[in-house]
Amino acid sequence: MTPENTAASGREKTWEPAIYNQFSSQREEPFWDLANLLEPAEGARLADLGCGDGRLTAALHSYLRAGNTLGIDSAPGMLAGTAAFANQSVEFARGDIAEWSAPGSFDIIFANASLQWVADHPRVISSLKESLAPGGQLAIQVPSNADHVIYRLASQLGSEWFGDNSPVDTVALNVKKPEEYSELLESLGFARHHVRLVVYGHRLSSASQTVDWVKGTTLNRFKAILDDAEYENFLQEYHRRVIKELDDQSPYFFTFKRILMWARLP
Ligand SMILES: C[S@@+](CC[C@H](N)C(=O)[O-])C[C@H]1O[C@@H](n2cnc3c(N)ncnc32)[C@H](O)[C@@H]1O
Repeated sequence: MTPENTAASGREKTWEPAIYNQFSSQREEPFWDLANLLEPAEGARLADLGCGDGRLTAALHSYLRAGNTLGIDSAPGMLAGTAAFANQSVEFARGDIAEWSAPGSFDIIFANASLQWVADHPRVISSLKESLAPGGQLAIQVPSNADHVIYRLASQLGSEWFGDNSPVDTVALNVKKPEEYSELLESLGFARHHVRLVVYGHRLSSASQTVDWVKGTTLNRFKAILDDAEYENFLQEYHRRVIKELDDQSPYFFTFKRILMWARLP
């Protein structure tokens, strides 16, 4: 298996709502910042790609007064929770953003914190544009934090542990510079668009809490290919390095860069 394939299959095995939602209030802030970039579209056909457990999809549906909403996710563990949020106007289905296509079918395509797992953003964003109806809006948020010390330490430890077979940090691999997204949106013919780099500052009780944070996301790629005992060892060594590097600060101010983009078709 190549590192990329390993990362892809691992994602599906390891996305767990209980761990991911541990920092739900901090993770929700960019979700609502992204939602607030949308222009009013009452009755819209909304697609939420990488919808997770569906809680925020349903909340977004109500907030926008959308007509019909479809949430798509590739992880069975996440989709298992969506039944609680499904109703006549909010549906969920298993699907892969990389392959998903519904030509001309949606007024809003929304993807919060999911596209970083998908390769070739120019191809995928171009395909998402084709799934918009005339006047449709695209809203995407991706992390841009691979250069932060806690992510660098995870990649370094992965290289030491797995050598050339270390699963890659998909943010480092897939996420582009803000200006590249801006150029892409322009080249795709969107009538209006903007791209913002926002730094979210999270006040954590201690530096150790960053380990809990990444356990819900970037460390999934290692968890997927280690057995429980090996993963525990990996975690302990990672934790030790984080504490050393961050001098065990308490509280700890965790800066998190994210790219938010919005675009509207003529
Ligand atoms: C960080 S969570 C974000 C969930 C939700 N959008 C939110 O804002 O809370 C990323 C989600 O994207 C999903 N995901 C990752 N890669 C995907 C893919 N290729 N196709 C569909 N969903 C994917 C994961 O299963 C996970 O539920």
